[in-house]
Amino acid sequence: MSDQQHTGPGARSHDAQSDGRHDVDSRDTANDTSNADIQLAGGHDSEGPPTDGSSHDELATRFADPGLPAHTYRRSDIDPLAARRREREVATLFGLSTLGTLLFIVAYFAVKPSDAAGPEMLGQVALSTKLLGLGLGLAMFCVGAGAIHWAKTLMPDDEIVAERKPMRSSEEDRRAAVAALKEGAAGAGLGRRKLIRNSLLGALAPMGLLAIIPLRDLGPLPGDVLEHTAWKAGRRLMTDPAGRPIKAADLPIGAVVHVLPEGIKKLPRPLDEEAKATAIVIRLAPSDLADQRPDRKGWDVAGIVAYSKVCTHVGCPVGLYEQQTHHLLCPCHQSTFDVTRNCAVIFGPAARPLPQLKLATDEAGYLVAAQDFEEPVGPSFWERGD
Ligand code: FES
Repeated sequence: MSDQQHTGPGARSHDAQSDGRHDVDSRDTANDTSNADIQLAGGHDSEGPPTDGSSHDELATRFADPGLPAHTYRRSDIDPLAARRREREVATLFGLSTLGTLLFIVAYFAVKPSDAAGPEMLGQVALSTKLLGLGLGLAMFCVGAGAIHWAKTLMPDDEIVAERKPMRSSEEDRRAAVAALKEGAAGAGLGRRKLIRNSLLGALAPMGLLAIIPLRDLGPLPGDVLEHTAWKAGRRLMTDPAGRPIKAADLPIGAVVHVLPEGIKKLPRPLDEEAKATAIVIRLAPSDLADQRPDRKGWDVAGIVAYSKVCTHVGCPVGLYEQQTHHLLCPCHQSTFDVTRNCAVIFGPAARPLPQLKLATDEAGYLVAAQDFEEPVGPSFWERGD
């Protein structure tokens, strides 16, 4: 085996490769099947490969080392102008990545689906999702593409022969590895190519924000906002979704209407307000209210009662009314509330009655709230500690 057989222009170490090949062949000799293959490939006698210490030398003479192909230089290796162009391309990709990160951050704060309502809210959700995805995708794709382009066009691409060695390298090799690493770092040009280094830092530094900024949705703490709703004394009951006021005289016995407070869509975060204030109005015959709690006498208007529609189990809308039995049913886990007894729980996992809204009428005869709910609406969890 001659040096010319395996020394290409880019080969770093002929001896290293030669040694490595010996290691491979030596290991293969321990395997019978491999031995057969070697014999066939080498066209040698059937006595099998030698098993003593001379096997390395003998195998080396029986198999030609193909060596490394001639190294092909890239344009950027030999043309400084081409290298400069590649550098600018890499920097442009890193710059686009920075723009993607900024787009994500701006979209997160600027497009707020929770500030809209109805169909507009759905449009905002779609817009927010698209912009966040676009920003995140652009940031990730461009920083990855920039790194690949940098590695393929500007970093050294010399063919390097890897040696097979014991797991623990000798001290000499370890020192050589450190030296090679330093050489590689120097070859990457981090110190020399400041434009790439700075644009890469500019792309990577704000990327942590992609993971941190959405954590803002965990806060702030709700404070007492869960203890109050948009109902206030004198605020009219408006049909949901039509938004019409309700005249007490217009409701027949047995009628059921879903309602929201007047003007709720103009409040800040209207969707959150609707989720808390949604209520159901039912007209009973006054005789059906004989079993009302004494402290709730006078909370109805001529048999018209109103209750929170948010289930006290885990918050589903309680919207199924059974007119014959006067039962309100939550479809999620079948909690059942008796409307004739202030929506006391008569079945299911809910732990407390639906909060009742005290009603009155204004001078025009329209139903209005006499006050906010007396207790927090929704799951009983919110009443813990009271
Ligand atoms: S949420 Fe209503 S029963 Fe579970």
